[in-house]
Amino acid sequence: MAVEIKSKHEIEKMRATCRLAASVLEFIEPHVQPGVSTEDLNRLCHDYIVERNAYPSPLNYKGFPKSICTSVNEVVCHGIPDPKKVLKQGDIINIDITTTLDGYFGDCSDMFIVGGKTNKHAQKLIDVTRESLWLGIREVGPNKRLGDIGAVIYEFAHNRHGYGVVEMFCGHGIGREFHMAPQVSHVGRKGTGRRMKPGMTFTIEPMINIGTEHCEILDDGWTALTRDRKWSAQAEHTILVTEAGFEVLTLRRGGYCPPDLRDTCLPVTA
Ligand code: MF3
Ligand code: CO
Ligand code: CO
Repeated sequence: MAVEIKSKHEIEKMRATCRLAASVLEFIEPHVQPGVSTEDLNRLCHDYIVERNAYPSPLNYKGFPKSICTSVNEVVCHGIPDPKKVLKQGDIINIDITTTLDGYFGDCSDMFIVGGKTNKHAQKLIDVTRESLWLGIREVGPNKRLGDIGAVIYEFAHNRHGYGVVEMFCGHGIGREFHMAPQVSHVGRKGTGRRMKPGMTFTIEPMINIGTEHCEILDDGWTALTRDRKWSAQAEHTILVTEAGFEVLTLRRGGYCPPDLRDTCLPVTA
C-alpha cells in the first residue's frame, strides 16, 4: 500500500482536526480526579467534540461503543469508558482522543495521574514513555526510514530501562481514514522500512509496560491489558513529515516537550 502524500490544502485540514484533538486533552485534564468515572470523562469529551462540529472517531468504529479510549493502570490501550470504573488517587490513565473534522482524522493521547501523584515506579514509566515518543519523533524527516523510529524507542525503553515495548499495536498513517498505511512499529529495526517523504502524516504511539510486553484482550473484544497485570503507559502524537524534518500536529498547552525543543514546541491549541 502506497503512503499518501497530503497536499497543502489537506495539511491545513489535518492541522485543524489535530488542533481540536489536542484541545480535548487540554480540556479534560482538570476533570481527571478521584471519584470521577471513565464514563464521566467520555461524556465530557463527547460533548466537547460534538459542540465543535466534529465527530468522536472511536464511536462505532469497528463496533467500539464509546467516544474515547480510557486505559487505566494495567490496561494497555482501547479501554472502554464505564460508569463503574471510578478513578482512585494514584491511578494512571491514558486518554486517547481521535476527532473527525471536515473528513480528516486527528489522533493523540497522553497519561494523566489521578490526584496528581502516583508511586515512583508509575511516574518513571510515564516519564520514559513520553521521552520514548519524542525520541521517535526526532527520527522523523525526509528520506529517513520508518524502522528507525521504533529502533530508538525500543533501545531507550527496553535496552536502557528494561521495560516491555508492545509489538501488537502500532502507530499508523492517518488522514481521511483513521488507520491507513504505513504501520509504524515501536519495535523497529534501524535502517529498515519505507523512506519518509514530506506530506506524509502518521502517528507514533508507543505502549510501554513495566513488565512483559505481552497483552491479553478481554471478552469485550477491545480492552487490551498486560498479561502479568503490571502497569502500562502510552503517549501519542500525529506527525507531519516536512522538508525540514517534522511538525507535531497535536501539541497542546501543558503537554510534554523535551527541554531542547521548547522553542519549537509551540502549542497549536487556541
Ligand atoms: N485512537 C486509537 C489509536 O491510537 C485507536 C482506537 S480504536 C477504537 O489508534 F476503536 F478503540 F477507538
Ligand atoms: Co493512533
Ligand atoms: Co489514538
